[in-house]
Amino acid sequence: MIISFTNQKGGVGKSTSAVHMAYWLQKRGNVLLVDSDAQQSSSTWIKGLNLPYQVVSDPEELFEVLPELAQKYSSVVVDGPGSLSEVTKAILARCDLALVPCQPSGLDLHSSTKILRFIRHAQELRGGMPKAAMFLSRATKGTLLLQEAKQLLKESNFPLLSTIYQRQCLADAPGQERTVFQMSGAAAKEAAKDYESLFKESLEVLNGGK
Ligand SMILES: Nc1ncnc2c1ncn2[C@@H]1O[C@H](COP(=O)(O)OP(=O)(O)OP(=O)(O)O)[C@@H](O)[C@H]1O
Ligand SMILES: [Mg+2]
Repeated sequence: MIISFTNQKGGVGKSTSAVHMAYWLQKRGNVLLVDSDAQQSSSTWIKGLNLPYQVVSDPEELFEVLPELAQKYSSVVVDGPGSLSEVTKAILARCDLALVPCQPSGLDLHSSTKILRFIRHAQELRGGMPKAAMFLSRATKGTLLLQEAKQLLKESNFPLLSTIYQRQCLADAPGQERTVFQMSGAAAKEAAKDYESLFKESLEVLNGGK
């Protein structure tokens, strides 16, 4: 299976979520992380995690290589670029599940309608594939903004999965070359729980349960 994190908006948590999901999926079989971002931010981090990864930022090459990689690995997680580009189109043309992280601010939510259009177009061409879901990322608990964002995203007709909150341990993770799954402390445990819920729900969407 190929799972992607895409949103043209920068800094919404694509790389953070992709690395955590790749790490989490290891217990279900071999996993490859594909870093499609020319900045290669997730691959620097992943070196320290001992996870196999490949950098592929050429759209044609991505289109060609993704099905081959999906044969070799039980899961391929694609970290998308922060742009609406040919790379994003190639990912959506090949992935089984497109996950869209959104930050709960008015401007960010508005710009996420663009990636949702891209996904709908891919679905038209591919007979309903990829499956897709959104989640709020880097959210602050108990704010009105978060409530409003949830309401707005529910209207998009894509399933809205568990929220990932803004936490210092997640910001620290790349520098420590670790995931929150390997960190101790209450905050890391909470963050790990949030990501675990999100990933379980994502697999349900992929398997048609949500
Ligand atoms: N839940 C979170 N809590 C705290 N910090 C976070 C969280 N998620 C991401 N960050 C931090 O926010 C910044 C942007 O996150 P990330 O790199 O994952 O976003 P991105 O969508 O991949 O961005 P880009 O489009 O630039 O590739 C990073 O510094 C990251 O460590
Ligand atoms: Mg990134």
